Amino acid sequence: MSLTGNLEKQIRRHIIGQSLDFYAVTPPGMASQCARELAALPEPIEVEGVETGGVNFHGRLTALYQANLRVRTASRFLLRLARFKATNFRQLTKQCGAVPWAWHLPPGVVPACKVTARQSRLYHSQAIAEHVGKAITAYWRAQEALPMETPAQTLYLRLDHDLVTLSLDSSGDHLYRRGLKTHGGQAPLRENLAAAILGLAGYDPAHPLLDPMCGAGTFALEAALWAKGIPPGSYRSFAFMHWPCFRPKQWQYIKIKANNELKRLPKPSIYAADLDEEACHRLAACVARHQLDDAVVVRQGDFFDLTPPPGEAGHPPSTGLIVLNPPYGLRLAPGDRLEAFYRRLGRKLAADFIGWQVALIVPNPRLIGTQPYPTRSIPLRHGGLAVSLLIGRVGH
Ligand SMILES: C[S@@+](CC[C@H](N)C(=O)[O-])C[C@H]1O[C@@H](n2cnc3c(N)ncnc32)[C@H](O)[C@@H]1O
Repeated sequence: MSLTGNLEKQIRRHIIGQSLDFYAVTPPGMASQCARELAALPEPIEVEGVETGGVNFHGRLTALYQANLRVRTASRFLLRLARFKATNFRQLTKQCGAVPWAWHLPPGVVPACKVTARQSRLYHSQAIAEHVGKAITAYWRAQEALPMETPAQTLYLRLDHDLVTLSLDSSGDHLYRRGLKTHGGQAPLRENLAAAILGLAGYDPAHPLLDPMCGAGTFALEAALWAKGIPPGSYRSFAFMHWPCFRPKQWQYIKIKANNELKRLPKPSIYAADLDEEACHRLAACVARHQLDDAVVVRQGDFFDLTPPPGEAGHPPSTGLIVLNPPYGLRLAPGDRLEAFYRRLGRKLAADFIGWQVALIVPNPRLIGTQPYPTRSIPLRHGGLAVSLLIGRVGH
């Protein structure tokens, strides 16, 4: 089936130029930050509500494109398609068959279906997904299009008290996959979580940032994109680029406008270091490959030997933000040695980093009191673990 003139008209009338409902999925507790980023997009949006795991908002299709391109803290963006009640499979199939899939998906595409169900009469995720798949297959057959299962498009189905919400994923790969870092590391952070931590800690590109246990360099790379004004989605593609409403010229225009905002920095103010020489080489290569060397310097070294970077000629070193993601307990040493490590780290900060803002990830609540400067603790999830982020300023 080709995109007929009639379908084209329907897409223009019902999708392009309309205010649509979207949902930003975020790491738990990061939704407020994401809502602030959405409000700062160069495209009007209206935030309807902020939940623990995401943000409901409205806007035009181009706002969804901008959000995927520019928002640093989100995990993915969904387009809301339909909401209806279904207490049995017959109702589910009928309602799913009534969605105008041709407005949203390339001809014949039967998306993967991810289901979450709570407090509902329909609860068997796999059976629900199968019925949705069959309803979409029947829809395409009726349109004389050849149905084909395409995991590159994903439908999210949420059932709550028998109320079904159907949403189409616009992002594709998880948004933490920036397409920038091709090297791995020891327990690397997800990029959107690293960006959220930088935001919570008050990162300001006008002041130095130290990532002295950088591993794969997630903090340093995120900060570099931020400091240079590079949108985090610049290096990747998105699921919405295959939608029938997608207009490549409009997307090119959005990307060119974003490119015009890029900055060349007079000198780097992001310092990444690690004990592991190999990790430093890999990060330095990534920095060079993406021309981020005006933002980031990478050095091999021990955090316990580190001193603040020098200030401008004749001035004392300026203060800034130090982000620390030490190795996790499992890899360090069991029991007391872990606590001793965090206490030593606190003493080092108190001795050499007076006036610096600190963001420190601790893998265990019993380590929260180890720092000799006042901190506030924020619960986070990283790699399936509950961890805490300690934020504080090293006092005199
Ligand atoms: C959990 S990983 C950091 C992951 C990193 N945030 C990322 O996203 O890839 C911890 C890192 O701390 C480094 N490390 C451990 N002790 C160190 C020390 N005394 N000085 C510098 N780096 C150290 C390890 O080599 C490891 O790369």
